Amino acid sequence: MKFIHLTDIHVTEPGASLFGQSPNLTLDRCIDDLNRNHADADLCLITGDLTHNGTVPEYAAARDILDRLKLRKLMLIGNHDQRGPALDGLSELSADEHGFVQQAVPTGAGIFVLMDTKTDDTHSGAYCAARQDWLARVLRDHRDRPVWLFMHHPPFETGMPAMDRIGMNRNDAAAIARLAVGHGNVRHMFFGHFHRPMSGTWNGIPFSSHRSMMLQCALDFETANEVGGIFEEPQYAVVTVTGDMTCIHYHDFDSTAMRQSMGGPEE
Ligand SMILES: [Fe+2]
Repeated sequence: MKFIHLTDIHVTEPGASLFGQSPNLTLDRCIDDLNRNHADADLCLITGDLTHNGTVPEYAAARDILDRLKLRKLMLIGNHDQRGPALDGLSELSADEHGFVQQAVPTGAGIFVLMDTKTDDTHSGAYCAARQDWLARVLRDHRDRPVWLFMHHPPFETGMPAMDRIGMNRNDAAAIARLAVGHGNVRHMFFGHFHRPMSGTWNGIPFSSHRSMMLQCALDFETANEVGGIFEEPQYAVVTVTGDMTCIHYHDFDSTAMRQSMGGPEE
């Protein structure tokens, strides 16, 4: 199986810009690149911040842009989204019995679990008891299958204090960890929110994220009172799954770096 991970596309109303750039035009270029080079992927999964302000016109713009992508699309919401307009505007989204935007999707590699970590009126993340109950049920229902977790806020601190201040509630994060470890076959966790390439393991579970379609977060282990931005290039990730192997390739699709032959592999 091969799929694409995109995150934090932050679509605005047409013509609007953020920090002097247009996330919509960046996403357009990303989709052009994906259609050209990865139309064979099984799906594209977007881990939230689908729009910047969560408004109806922004979701309409997101719909128009994403419709050009030739891949099956799965997505979830982030702190910049609003559940009502998101559910109305993007048919790929679906709500659980409590109205949280989460779903479990069978794929060729196992069950993709798309989680809702949004908290109303703050950029921080949460995963309340109702959401935990839903996750527990999904993991129980699929106890014999590989599971892949997707969420906007990662359930851990990263050492970057400004972003960790708007991270996941600690108790809720611990609950996710207990459930994920208890399942015993969570293959990988994908997240967004940080607008930075990041990977590692958490309770024995591999995780990864990467850059967004707007301003990126600068690597900063000291500043706590302001999120520093940096005009680094946007990225997407190509994920291949073969048996027990997961391989993730990051691509800076806007890069103007020249290609150069390095000779044959025997040299
Ligand atoms: Fe974001």
